Amino acid sequence: MLRSVPGTTDRRIDALLALLAENSLMVISGAKIAREIGVTRSTVWRWVEKLRSLGVKVKGHPRSGYQVERLPDVLVPQLLRSGLHGTMFGKRIHHFFKTDSTNSVALRLGQDDEPHGALVIAEEQTAGRGRAGRSWLSEKTSGIYVSVLLRPALSPMHAPLLTLMAGLAVRDAVAEQTGLAPDIRWPNDLLLSGKKFCGILTEMHAEPDRVRYVVIGIGLNVNHTRLPAEIEKLATSLHLEAGRSQSRLELLIRLLRQLDRYYNQFVREGPGPLLARFAQVSSYAQGKRVRITTATETFTGITAGLEPSGLLRVTREDGRVEPVIAGDVTEAD
Ligand code: BTN
Repeated sequence: MLRSVPGTTDRRIDALLALLAENSLMVISGAKIAREIGVTRSTVWRWVEKLRSLGVKVKGHPRSGYQVERLPDVLVPQLLRSGLHGTMFGKRIHHFFKTDSTNSVALRLGQDDEPHGALVIAEEQTAGRGRAGRSWLSEKTSGIYVSVLLRPALSPMHAPLLTLMAGLAVRDAVAEQTGLAPDIRWPNDLLLSGKKFCGILTEMHAEPDRVRYVVIGIGLNVNHTRLPAEIEKLATSLHLEAGRSQSRLELLIRLLRQLDRYYNQFVREGPGPLLARFAQVSSYAQGKRVRITTATETFTGITAGLEPSGLLRVTREDGRVEPVIAGDVTEAD
């Protein structure tokens, strides 16, 4: 049986938000809300305060009733679901106001019977993880922190393609919503003005010949108006680049719809279209002078396209062309 995960958002808070959002032009009395979602009026008040602390603009108080000013930008299942209609996502959405890492939660779910297409979303992460043991800044409500659980019929060798797929989905969603044109630094960094605003951490559980499940974790800096001094030179946000704040809800729906589209295309047609699209939109795919840092060495070279498995080929200074299996890629001067 599929259970809900400890710590996920109370479904009734979700219902409260949906009720306010659906009636955003009306004041709804505390008593009516309490009746509809099945809690006391004082619980409604407590939850309204919680939503306010997350930046949801709720007007009113227990005596007058409550009203939201506009569609709240909180990534709860009830608000996401209608936008995800017809995709593989939406049936199982685990939302947290706060958790350690959505990837860690999704990996545990993968170990259980959680189905393909399940989502884990957090408004805040206390231990967001990046690649190579790094951490991922996961401030409350400024970013999108989402992990997608997939059970693809795929050999582990082809798993890098899933990271590319997620990068393309983010790129297209951001372009659609903001009109900006993000670059993708192989395999998984999305850049605007040369600075990173999104990272992807793909983790999987596999047997030698088949993937059992994959978790694709996506972290997006959306509405940060400034970033900590230590990363300011390397990182940016969509708000900083587009000059205005962005609806996280809208962006997450676009991103998941794109991911669904790319995934279905991949199942139908194989890696060809993904590789071609990556070559089209990433300045790192071909002819870029890069520095590669692996666990054992650092070298420079010129990028020379992708392997069918999604690995990046690099021509070294001595002329040898080699795929990069794992390593950090940066632009070399
Ligand atoms: C990187 O560029 O190093 C990858 C960053 C990935 C961060 C996301 S946020 C959602 C998911 N949960 C995590 O703990 N990490 C990923």
